[in-house]
Amino acid sequence: MAWLYSAATIVGLGSIVKFGQNVADTLLAETHCYQGVRTNGAAADADVNCFSVSSTGRFTNVFSAGSDSELAKTAHPGYAMPGLWDGHGHLLQYGEFLNSVDLFGSTTMDEIRGRVSKYVDENPGAGSAQEWIRGVGWDQMALGVMPTAICYRRIFLMSLEEKSLETREWAFSVTTPSPPVMALWPKPDDKKKAGFLKSAMRRLNQYGLVGMHDAGVSAANLNLFKELAGSEDWTIRVYAMAEYYDRNAICPDPVERYNDPNGFLSIQSVKLFADGALGSWGSAMIDDYADRPGVSGSLLVNASELTYRAVSWATKGFQVNIHAIGDLANRYAVDAHTAALRLLCPCESLADCQARHRFRIEHSQIIHEDDQARMHAIGIIPSIQPTHATSDMAYAEQRLGKDRTEKEAYRMRSLLDIKPVLGSDFPVEPADPFQGIYAAVTRKSPHTGRGANGSPDGWHTEEALTLDQAIRGFTEGPAYGGFTEGNTGVIRPGAYADWIVLDKPLEDVDIEELRSLKVRETWVAGKRVYNRD
Ligand SMILES: *[C@@H]1O[C@H](CO)[C@@H](O)[C@H](O)[C@H]1NC(C)=O
Ligand SMILES: [Zn+2]
Repeated sequence: MAWLYSAATIVGLGSIVKFGQNVADTLLAETHCYQGVRTNGAAADADVNCFSVSSTGRFTNVFSAGSDSELAKTAHPGYAMPGLWDGHGHLLQYGEFLNSVDLFGSTTMDEIRGRVSKYVDENPGAGSAQEWIRGVGWDQMALGVMPTAICYRRIFLMSLEEKSLETREWAFSVTTPSPPVMALWPKPDDKKKAGFLKSAMRRLNQYGLVGMHDAGVSAANLNLFKELAGSEDWTIRVYAMAEYYDRNAICPDPVERYNDPNGFLSIQSVKLFADGALGSWGSAMIDDYADRPGVSGSLLVNASELTYRAVSWATKGFQVNIHAIGDLANRYAVDAHTAALRLLCPCESLADCQARHRFRIEHSQIIHEDDQARMHAIGIIPSIQPTHATSDMAYAEQRLGKDRTEKEAYRMRSLLDIKPVLGSDFPVEPADPFQGIYAAVTRKSPHTGRGANGSPDGWHTEEALTLDQAIRGFTEGPAYGGFTEGNTGVIRPGAYADWIVLDKPLEDVDIEELRSLKVRETWVAGKRVYNRD
């Protein structure tokens, strides 16, 4: 229950018109007190337990109420902290995933049948010409066979076989008869997409997320986002990277920069792609794979083309974010960013120029030491998914060999000075940010609680983060990497009033508990969007 200044108090203070807007906002603010508040701000904020929120959805006062004060007596149970951000996810695809049969972890055909029939029971109408049943998470290794389309009921089951994907981006591998099925599949219309977005946002709020960076949105979907942002159901702040159908095009339908005044949608960045996935030996490497002599992966575009595209978008005023997994792709991404910065700021240091343009490398998975040094020198931002490290640890060293794994792969701690953005890549990995925090701190799988090959020890813990660093990677990191620092990821006067409430301060939570931690409440722009009870 929020503590609200009564109308009588305001009237009693005389004519409100005489006050400036800030004063009026403060007087009209709602005040919330908790058992404790982590502000993510200065150390001096250590004993903060209350904050006020204006009618426009921003924090006004952030303060400490003495334990015997009237305010402190009204404190809600629980501990507040800034709402979390996922620095790399796929919103619409996550909504589609939530509206599919979840096949993850099923190891027998009976289990598959069971899950499909349960879905059909719960979703009347599923299986019609307009409502195909999609299944996600078919594990051909466990099941021994590839899925096929069963046409009479219009079911098709797909495996989320990211290990065989061209890129590590969202995609399914559909097997026989894949092309006809994909061609016949009724593409979701805008109404359906709006439903996907709504269910995605609801679920993300439930995990304690208040914002996300969408790593690739088509021009058509960006228009839909613009229509929907600001509506009642839009409860996640979205920093959307523009992406095109052919993934790297420069001259498709023009995309304009766009910033919703209330901070619910920002379009000012582009996603470019350099290479593919490590699991399928698709990531572009400087040297051959350790387990496939003669094979070094491949680039999706050559180096000069990547630079040309980066420069083109940069000069249109866009932040350039390049998907790069292998060390060759990362090298060319650094080259492309460097060329664009030189062009943008011919008379300035690259680091100063980069501080304004904030070019990023999405995934930043395997980076040669020389290129790590260049990233540090310029401040090129690594966008990292801690659970990718723990999903890949099973085979990464096999692919890369010991030396490359130690010097180049899945770095986190050694990149801290260049403001890493942490995320999950949902729906490729679970969206729960506490699982990402767990993976970053322990370098163990949040799924199993184990390191590589079932080891009780974390994988390359020399690159692990502290809890505080990991939290900042899901708050301050995305804020800087999305140009919202001071407005998001922090509880301070003027910032967006986005916060979550936990049962205990995160510092007091046993690290293993992070794997299943459930938030009590999530608030966005001063409104409660999720309540556990
Ligand atoms: C790089 O790719 C572009 C576009 O496909 C092509 O025009 C160009 O010739 C290629 N450059 C090299 C060096 O292969
Ligand atoms: Zn992605």
